[in-house]
Amino acid sequence: MHSTRNQLLRLLAPGEFMSGTVLGTQLSVSRTAVAKHIDGLKHLGLDIYSVKGKGYKLSAPLSLLSAISISQYYQQLYKASSGSQNEPLNLHVLNIIDSTNTYIKTHLQSLDSGTACIAEAQTAGRGRHGRQWVSPFGSSIYLSMYWCFAGGYQTLSGLSLVVGLAVHATLAQCGVDTAKLKWPNDVYVNMQKIAGILIEVEGSVGDSVHCVIGVGLNVNLPDGIGGIEQPFTDLQSQLDEQMVDRNHLTAQLIHQLRQYMLQFEAHGLAPFIAQWQALNVFDQQEINVHFGQDIISGTCIGINEQGALLVDVAGQVKSFHGGEISVRAK
Ligand code: BTN
Repeated sequence: MHSTRNQLLRLLAPGEFMSGTVLGTQLSVSRTAVAKHIDGLKHLGLDIYSVKGKGYKLSAPLSLLSAISISQYYQQLYKASSGSQNEPLNLHVLNIIDSTNTYIKTHLQSLDSGTACIAEAQTAGRGRHGRQWVSPFGSSIYLSMYWCFAGGYQTLSGLSLVVGLAVHATLAQCGVDTAKLKWPNDVYVNMQKIAGILIEVEGSVGDSVHCVIGVGLNVNLPDGIGGIEQPFTDLQSQLDEQMVDRNHLTAQLIHQLRQYMLQFEAHGLAPFIAQWQALNVFDQQEINVHFGQDIISGTCIGINEQGALLVDVAGQVKSFHGGEISVRAK
């Protein structure tokens, strides 16, 4: 982002009124220029309004991402869980990017496994099934992590379920204890989507498979946001506290993801199956499984050891693997 715009945003972040004159003085630009930059920020999805005689104000305070703050929180979590001292946190904090998954893919050659990147906004955020992931500035977590699995493709089955569990555990740590999982990896609260996961496999070298694990977690979406095609919620609406600290949340998510990825790498899906079954949003419910033009109806009875969805169709158990399958309530 333009550096003046960036500074302007930092001045407005506390959510207090600031007059055009004060902003202009602090930024060494004219009031007209301030007004132009405010328009630019509104274009990014920021909810800024103005009141005559008072100035400009963000509709809610904004917790901006800070690499230092995320790293400090991460070290605290690491120390508390392992008892040992620092673990380096490989994290790229970006401002506005097309997609964090694309960023990781582009820089894959120079990254170590476990490196993550996070952005304030995405201009071309991607969801599953070729859908767009609406990614307004500062209102969510848009995070991607690179993980290299040395055991090859066959060791990846169930990966997306485990990432869903990591997001679920992160939400639980924040005080949201009613989240559920929808196969293969959507996270729901009260039947409204709070997070989505997009895993992209970026080729292999020998037996190693490069995975880009993308997580979009709604934190504080602007009122009246458009373009989201399904019922959704965000973390802020689920919590009473004043403002979710996205830096703390990011550290929690990275820490949880890394722990689960290490466990998954070592033991596969087995240690996670019971936990996933207990959180299955459609457990024992009638569902429709959509794939291509076909729809199959049955009772959702859980997952198998490969992470495939099991559906009882007229007394016969059918299993469904990943790909272009979507599951809906009947
Ligand atoms: C879904 O459709 O549910 C998956 C959404 C995944 C969105 C995240 S946001 C961070 C990462 N970058 C992207 O472009 N997509 C993923």
